Amino acid sequence: MKIKNSTALVTGANRGIGKAYVEALIKRGAKKVYAAMRDVEAFKKSAPESLEKYKDVLELIPLDITNEEQIASAVGKAGGIDLLINNAGIANYTGLIAAKNLGPVRQEMDVNYFGTLSMIRAFAPVLEKNGGGTIVNVLSVASLANFPILGSYSASKAALYSLTQGVRAELDQQGTHVLGVYPGPIDTDMAKDVPMDKSSPEETANGTLQAIEEGQEDVFIDVFAIQFQKDFQSSPIGIAKQFVEMLPEAVA
Ligand SMILES: NC(=O)c1ccc[n+]([C@@H]2O[C@H](COP(=O)([O-])OP(=O)(O)OC[C@H]3O[C@@H](n4cnc5c(N)ncnc54)[C@H](OP(=O)(O)O)[C@@H]3O)[C@@H](O)[C@H]2O)c1
Repeated sequence: MKIKNSTALVTGANRGIGKAYVEALIKRGAKKVYAAMRDVEAFKKSAPESLEKYKDVLELIPLDITNEEQIASAVGKAGGIDLLINNAGIANYTGLIAAKNLGPVRQEMDVNYFGTLSMIRAFAPVLEKNGGGTIVNVLSVASLANFPILGSYSASKAALYSLTQGVRAELDQQGTHVLGVYPGPIDTDMAKDVPMDKSSPEETANGTLQAIEEGQEDVFIDVFAIQFQKDFQSSPIGIAKQFVEMLPEAVA
């Protein structure tokens, strides 16, 4: 599908990669962009100029993706979309054993897995009605190999990887294309304490929009992710061990 004249909804659109998606969509000529976020009022106060500048194309929607009522309300407001970008996610930086209890582990599954699934289930009929369209799921290289500093997050993103394959198969008949995006470390709040070189959110956003237009299924955009994909294909076990070696303090 083409981005020009598309109608898109982005979750977690107030900051980080989500905000970059909104800006990239507008720049590439999307007709309408629904920027979904938990705290609309805080965003309005922080960015009044861009809201005024893009008022014809941008609409803010209050949305916590773990809240089924808010999801239903978003479907009511954004019933014209042909592109759903499931970007919202959390990382609690807990190990699977090191976590003091399962609270933060369950929260990551609730947001990254169940929240994304709820969004897809709610919007699948909308996309079908609008001709099929595209769903983008923002996963991570940690979907494919566990990253010990993010052990429970990696597991939630691995669940999202399987989900992505499953919904791709189930939605194929209705003509909905499903794209998985696998970033490496990106320079956002989420990765602010990760001691690695990081790529920009804009690079991820622009690479994703290009991948949508090319009809790709899985995309590795930043330099870390591209190298990761090569290493993963040659040795899945080796790359998991490499993550441990890269961050020795994470497993101390
Ligand atoms: N940064 C990286 O290195 C990296 C690497 C690989 C993949 N990713 C993935 O990229 C996506 C975007 O992350 P980011 O780097 O931009 O992180 P970020 O700056 O921490 O932003 C996360 C976004 O998700 C939103 N969010 C969290 N829980 C939510 C919920 N229950 N409902 C709705 N929105 C929720 C946040 O909203 P609030 O402002 O309300 O908290 C925020 O807008 C995530 O899925 C992340 O896992 C990031």
